[in-house]
Amino acid sequence: MDAYDWIDSALATIHKANWYRSVKTMSSPGPTAVLNGQEVINFASNDYLGLAGDSRLAEAAIAAINTWGTGSTGSRLLSGHRTIHEQLEDALASWKQTEAAIVYSSGYLANIGTITALVSGRDLILADAYNHASLKNGARLSGATIHEFGHANVAELRSLLETHRSHYRRCLLVTDSVFSMDGDLCPLPELIALAEAYNCMLLIDEAHGTGVLGATTGAGCVEHFGCRDAELIQMGTLSKALGSLGGYVAGSAKLIDYLRNRSTSWIYTTGLSPADTAAALAAVEIIREGNELRSQLWQRVTQLKQALTQQLETDDHHSEMQLLPSESPILCVQMPTPNAVLTASQQLLDQGIFAPAIRPPTVPTSRIRISVMATHQPEQIDQLIFALSEIAQCR
Ligand SMILES: Cc1ncc(COP(=O)(O)O)c(C=O)c1O
Repeated sequence: MDAYDWIDSALATIHKANWYRSVKTMSSPGPTAVLNGQEVINFASNDYLGLAGDSRLAEAAIAAINTWGTGSTGSRLLSGHRTIHEQLEDALASWKQTEAAIVYSSGYLANIGTITALVSGRDLILADAYNHASLKNGARLSGATIHEFGHANVAELRSLLETHRSHYRRCLLVTDSVFSMDGDLCPLPELIALAEAYNCMLLIDEAHGTGVLGATTGAGCVEHFGCRDAELIQMGTLSKALGSLGGYVAGSAKLIDYLRNRSTSWIYTTGLSPADTAAALAAVEIIREGNELRSQLWQRVTQLKQALTQQLETDDHHSEMQLLPSESPILCVQMPTPNAVLTASQQLLDQGIFAPAIRPPTVPTSRIRISVMATHQPEQIDQLIFALSEIAQCR
């Protein structure tokens, strides 16, 4: 008997449950790519504005490598802090209209390090049931008591606050802004009102909102809802619409100062690389300079959404395929079973379209998840619409 034998049976269980996952090789970040040797239109990317393949980000990254080298060489508090980090943090704070910001080496680390710094055993976390895994794991690691409320269910949150809030020292409300596997938005104004009424902190994860939502500057869901005056913990990533890597938290100067002193996933890890930092800074500048990419993105989203809504409403065959409510570039077509979405995803792939099947336990119901990019051509969106309608006819 070997101490590692259990791994074989654990893997066998994963296979048996049909939960086994493996990587697929994607050639490049653009709207078209070669996936495992096959040319596809890519509807699986978080690079909403197409900036990951933008030459301006690449040039900024190369210039940063030439100036500061490839690695940050140490944690930010020791040898790993460069002027470019400060420039990015200042740019993020200015964009988000907060007093300060702090940059982490990933969004996952930002969530874990922020939540564990803010609450512990004597505290309470109330969290949306559909929150991202990094928020859920941060909550667990913190040692705080956790209660989940039903997805976007403000009434349930109010009732949990009424029952539990007074028994705990601090309370942290935690929510995604755009829910990554659904595409809908959190009820931010209502959450802010409850946070104020019950003396709670509110952390909003803008991973999929930053650069995408917010009519004037694209600063995210907080701008979209006109809630920029509220005192919030605005977390986000540099890895999606900003086309780079890393995470951030924007908020009050005292919050950021505190995180620099207490957030272990920021203190005890190497600073973000100069290339990633410079690429993210270039992305923030591009997004703040003009909204062409963002308006192009929303044109593509509208094109797809209108066509799918029409198809699903007018065609009997489509009754099994339901477009889930979305106010973002993430559009999900729900199907009745895991096998149905697996088959549909493969049929799309056969037509050169990559849109992944997302199944339980990742989500409660099976769906094809489509993420739209500003750099998709209208004809590519049409191809997806046609392919989905063919799948629906055959069902
Ligand atoms: C909602 C949400 N939060 C946090 C993260 C983690 O961000 P990162 O990929 O930068 O670690 C993700 C990424 O998948 C996400 O979707």
